[in-house]
Amino acid sequence: INVGVFFGGTSVEHEVSIISAQQAIAQLLAMDGYKLVPIYISKQNRWYTGDYLLEVEHFKDLKKVLENSTRIQLVKGNRNAYLIEDPIRQFHKALVDHIDLAFPIIHGTGGEDGSLQGLLEHLDIPYVGCNVLSASITMDKIASKLFLQSSGIRVVDGEWFYAHHWLNYQSDIIEDLEKKLPYPMIVKPADIGSSVGIKSAKNRFELIEAIDFARFFSPRILVEKMLVGMREINISVLGDSEKLELSVCEEPISSNDFLTYEDKYVGERSSKGMSAAKRQIPANLTTEMKREIERMAAEAFIALDCAGVTRIDFMIEKETQLAYINEFNTVPGSLSFYLWEATGKSFKEMLKAMIDAAYR
Ligand code: DAL
Ligand code: MG
Repeated sequence: INVGVFFGGTSVEHEVSIISAQQAIAQLLAMDGYKLVPIYISKQNRWYTGDYLLEVEHFKDLKKVLENSTRIQLVKGNRNAYLIEDPIRQFHKALVDHIDLAFPIIHGTGGEDGSLQGLLEHLDIPYVGCNVLSASITMDKIASKLFLQSSGIRVVDGEWFYAHHWLNYQSDIIEDLEKKLPYPMIVKPADIGSSVGIKSAKNRFELIEAIDFARFFSPRILVEKMLVGMREINISVLGDSEKLELSVCEEPISSNDFLTYEDKYVGERSSKGMSAAKRQIPANLTTEMKREIERMAAEAFIALDCAGVTRIDFMIEKETQLAYINEFNTVPGSLSFYLWEATGKSFKEMLKAMIDAAYR
C-alpha cells in the first residue's frame, strides 16, 4: 500500500515533526508492503512531495529541500480569484490518487488537532491515529480537562477564560483566579503543544506576566494549580478503544519546574529527537502507582476514543501521592517508540500496529 507520510506543518513544532517523521520513515522504508509518499508541509503551508524528502540529511538545508521536491498545487500559478470546480476531485488528482493511507506525523496545530484529519475525512482517505473528535479534544487543554473530569478521571484543578477578556477584565479575572486556586499557579495557552507559551507564577505579579505572555499563543487561557514537588510520568497507549496495549512508564528529567520546549528539543541532543532527551525508562514507581497510571491511561484513551499511539503525560503530587493526567500527545515526539522498545516491541512492530488499527 502507498502510505502518505504528512510532516512539517505550520505549528511551532515544525522542526520536531521533521525529526519524528524522518525516524518513522527510516523504519517504514525497511518494512515490506509499504511504498512511501512523503508529503512535507512547509512553515508557509505549501505542500511538497518527492523522494528527496525521504532523507533526513537533506533537511539540513530547507531551501534545497524545496528546490528538489514537487509542490502539490490544486491550480498552478493563478493568483486571481477563481472558482475551484469540484475541489475534492482536484485534490484527488493532486494527492489522493497517489496514497492509500495517510500517516499524520505533524505535531500540534494543523496536524494533531483534528484539522488534517477533517481534510482526510473529506477526501475519504483512511488515516493512522485519532479521529477528528478525539484529536481536537485531546489537543485542547481546556476541552480535555472538562472531558476527563466528567468521565471521573483525575485532573488538576483549573480555570479558563478568553484572552480577549483579559484586557478589559484583568482585575476581575485575577480576583477570581486567586479565590479558586492557590499559588503557585501555572498558565497555559489552551491549544498549543511542546510547552510553548507556558509559565508558572508564584505571586500576583508573576501571574499577570504569565497571562500576558500566554495570550499571544492562544485565544483561550488555562490557569491551573501547580503541583509542588511533583514528578512527571509518561506512558504510551497503542491500539484503539477496542484493543489496546500499554507501554512502560518513563520519567523525563527536567532542569526546571516543568519540562520546557528547550528541555525537550533544544541542545546537542535535539537532532536525535525525543529518543535522546533525558529520561528514566522504566520509571521508578511502586507497583500500586504503576497500576494506577496504567488504569487511568487506559480509561482516558478509551474515554476519548483515541487510536494509533498516544503518549499520556501524568503528574504525581508529592504530598498526596495522587496521579493526575496532565496532557495527551496523540502524535507524540518520534511517536514515543522508545517507550515501546523498552517493552520488547520494535519501532517497526509499533508502526505496524498503528497502521493495523487504522484499518479496523
Ligand atoms: N508535542 C511533542 C512532540 C510531544 O510532547 O511529544
Ligand atoms: Mg506535549
